[in-house]
Amino acid sequence: MKILVTGGLGFIGSHTVVELAKENNEIIILDNLYNSKIEVLDKLEKITGKKFKFYKYDLLNKEDVEKVFEENEIDSVIHFAGYKAVGESVEKPLMYYSNNLMSTLNLLNIMKKYNVKKFIFSSSATVYGNKETGICIETMGRGETSNPYGTTKSMIEKILEDLYASDNTWNITILRYFNPVGAHESGLIGEEPNGIPNNLMPYIMKVASGKLEVLSIFGDDYPTPDGTGIRDYIHVVDLAKGHVKALENMKQGLNYYNLGSGKGISVLEMVKTFEKVNNVKVNYKIVERRAGDLAECYADPSKALRELNWKTEKSLEDICRDAWNFEKNN
Ligand code: WQD
Repeated sequence: MKILVTGGLGFIGSHTVVELAKENNEIIILDNLYNSKIEVLDKLEKITGKKFKFYKYDLLNKEDVEKVFEENEIDSVIHFAGYKAVGESVEKPLMYYSNNLMSTLNLLNIMKKYNVKKFIFSSSATVYGNKETGICIETMGRGETSNPYGTTKSMIEKILEDLYASDNTWNITILRYFNPVGAHESGLIGEEPNGIPNNLMPYIMKVASGKLEVLSIFGDDYPTPDGTGIRDYIHVVDLAKGHVKALENMKQGLNYYNLGSGKGISVLEMVKTFEKVNNVKVNYKIVERRAGDLAECYADPSKALRELNWKTEKSLEDICRDAWNFEKNN
């Protein structure tokens, strides 16, 4: 199958390319390198032993995107490209709405023109919004999102619903990620956020490697066993394999799937596991809660198991070991 992977040099995109390459797929990567590095292309070739057609294009440029479809008989598209920093989206909402919505609309319009109608969308658990319970089930539908980044994901899901309602020859799979962490076992690819990390795992790694002084734990007064926030951390390789399964088992129509482990892990549990697995110290201090944070958020992943024959296989220890291995190698 010939698959276009937008954002294919990014954290989740690159790991998905590795897993897709194991199957007999021809992969085309489009990435504007806003939040990724061209060196990742060489690393992907090193890991897979395969070469990939690469377009350093921006989805906001319609002519460029059309060129990709003119030059390649694309069967399906996995769409990762988009801005994804929650904090930055609060400061720069127009940048997030313009980029994430327009790039997706451009892509969908050109797919329609070239009659390419198999689409996998990188969505996020954030679309469930602020709920009473920690567990997220696909049938719950979307809630009130708490930042522009999450709202773009919610809006794109709605766009896809309307697109499908207008033309049911589309096959659309929406994958709602929980907290992607970890790295490929080679240590060649992993998460490289620009600047000071917003997310827990990259921040832990910077503290463990001495690049940052101390981890601030945002609140230990939540209604959870140890008082710190609970999330569903999913190894990025498990997440990548979820995309392969979604492609292989793509059902007719528009379908949503949670891609998570189904297990809730607290901040303190993550810190302690990271220290134990890697025999390092992570200095931390408890500070006030971060605005917008939920006490608990974790997946019911049973639908993905039932319909995509997918579930996570890697443990929290694997996550901590592989993440640290990448940090040490880079
Ligand atoms: C995890 C836990 C924090 C940093 C976000 C996005 C979501 C997705 C994943 C893209 C929480 C605590 C964190 C720190 C801390 N992104 N924490 N100190 O907020 O669950 O989800 O990233 O798809 O859409 O919303 O992830 O890693 O920021 O926080 O105590 O320095 O760690 O309070 O409990 P989050 P996170």
